[in-house]
Amino acid sequence: MRKRELYISYLQCDNINELESHDKDLLMAAKKSVNDAYAPYSQYYVGSAVQLEDGKIICGNNQENIAYPSGLCAERIALFYTSSRYPDQKICAIAITAKADNFEVTEPVAPCGACRQVLAEYQTKQQHPIKIILMGETGKIKLISSVDDILPFMFHAEQLKK
Ligand code: THU
Repeated sequence: MRKRELYISYLQCDNINELESHDKDLLMAAKKSVNDAYAPYSQYYVGSAVQLEDGKIICGNNQENIAYPSGLCAERIALFYTSSRYPDQKICAIAITAKADNFEVTEPVAPCGACRQVLAEYQTKQQHPIKIILMGETGKIKLISSVDDILPFMFHAEQLKK
C-alpha cells in the first residue's frame, strides 16, 4: 500500500477590489442576485452568476419549496438556464455568494456536491476550465481555477466505456 497525495491550490484575497474588474463585476452580479432568492425555509440566500465567453452574465439564486427536495441551488439554476439558452457558448467562470437572515455569512460559500458535479459536466463538455469565485456576505474571497480542484476523483465519461 502506498500513500498518495493530492495537491490543489487557489488564490485568496481579502477585498473585492483586489479582483480583476471582470471577476469583480461577476461577483457583484451574484451579490445582486442574492436579493431575489426564494429561501423562506432556510433563510439562507445564495446568488450565482455565470460568465459566458461573449461576456454575457447569467444569474441564478436558490429556489426553495415546502417539499424540500423540490427546491434547487442557485448554481444549478444559473447553469441549467445557461445550458438551455446558450448551449454552444463556453462558461468562463461562476461566482457564488450568500447571505442569511440570522447571522453574517463571513466564510466563502462552499458549493454542494451536486452543483460541483453539474459544473464538472459542463467543464468536461466544453473542454475548457471553469473558474470558481466564492465569497460570503463579507470576508475573504477564494478564486479556484478549475472544477478539478473542487471535485477530485470526479466521475468521468471514460469510466462508462468498456
Ligand atoms: N444552497 C445553494 O443554493 N447553493 C449552495 O452552494 C449551498 C446551498 C442553498 C440550498 C438551500 O436553498 C439553502 O442554500 C440552504 O441549504
